[in-house]
Amino acid sequence: MLVDRFGRIATDLRVSVTDKCDLRCTYCMPAEGLPWLPRAEVLTDDELERLVDIAVRLLGVREVRLTGGEPLIRPGLPGLVERLAALMPRPQLSLTTNGVALSRLAVPLAQAGLDRVNVSLDTLDPELFRTLTRRDKLERVIAGIDAALAAGLGPVKINTVLMRGVNDHEAAELLRWSLERGCELRFIEQMPLDAQHGWDRSVMVTAEEILKSLEAEFDLEPEGGEARGSAPAETWRVVGYKAPDGSPARVGVIASVTRPFCGDCDRVRLTADGQVRTCLFAREESDLRGALRAGASDAELAERWRVAMRGKKAAAGIGEPGFVQPDRPMSAIGG
Ligand code: GTP
Ligand code: 5AD
Ligand code: SF4
Repeated sequence: MLVDRFGRIATDLRVSVTDKCDLRCTYCMPAEGLPWLPRAEVLTDDELERLVDIAVRLLGVREVRLTGGEPLIRPGLPGLVERLAALMPRPQLSLTTNGVALSRLAVPLAQAGLDRVNVSLDTLDPELFRTLTRRDKLERVIAGIDAALAAGLGPVKINTVLMRGVNDHEAAELLRWSLERGCELRFIEQMPLDAQHGWDRSVMVTAEEILKSLEAEFDLEPEGGEARGSAPAETWRVVGYKAPDGSPARVGVIASVTRPFCGDCDRVRLTADGQVRTCLFAREESDLRGALRAGASDAELAERWRVAMRGKKAAAGIGEPGFVQPDRPMSAIGG
């Protein structure tokens, strides 16, 4: 098991399969992109399969989420998914994507064994999409979401980062749009994880503000309440709407800054270059790639991973006194 000093057990592994991306969201990276990892430093499919196998077979990991950068730009992703789906015990397999390449890949990924996808979408306005992502690809993202729904990669969740004065006026419209399609929308508080280190707390729209503005247009009933457990999203039922399976439709808020869920965290991360990170906001990484390439056994790699978990901090304390933003941006850590 992967247990930290506070007794939290990591069963949810988030694997970044590339640090590159085909969008340039202003809150994530500069227009020119970033100095990408040299190819030789990125784990190969064989290496990734081996580390995930160790995680599920020896360390108790049950869920594996593929992230990036943008995971769909890694060549041969369906082949990797197929290999991960063949592991024993088989992990739950999910993907977090910007959706751009999803209309082409939804069916191959579903056939390979992917269980579900979360897609990022911050606006439904093509002009604003172009400004926010520096690319003109809104139509492709929408086609990708529809392809994921058609391929059975559900429940499809939509992730929206709201920014004051930028896209916060679209909150209700985004929710209506998601409900009509049968998607679960989650609004995310913006975190200080951008490459430019330009996070400004006053631009972040808080969970409280988001709920207030939604309640003006929708009838929301709290769901789960205190029983959020390790899920980052707090959810509400949207009265009068149904999910595709007939259950009540839901909307979520991921309030990492104002209502952190660190106390119940069940996550651990593996970066595209094979470093274990115990938290998005960890200051340290533990090098599995080096050990793996130096010939370490499965048992040795598992032990290295267990030791890394003991360095996990109690909480990220985003924006609190003493908080230091990690050196690597979210695109290199994995979303
Ligand atoms: P589900 O199982 O579908 O609920 O997945 P998820 O919400 O954990 O995954 P997703 O990749 O869609 O993450 C959505 C957002 O949650 C991310 O963009 C982050 O803003 C936030 N998030 C995910 N993992 C963490 C984490 O470990 N810590 C913090 N603080 N935020 C996280
Ligand atoms: N804060 C919160 N969410 C972020 N994302 C990217 N950068 C940030 C940030 N600084 C979101 C993306 C996507 C998910 C993987 O993470 O919009 O939905
Ligand atoms: Fe876990 Fe760190 Fe995220 Fe908190 S910020 S939920 S400790 S990964």
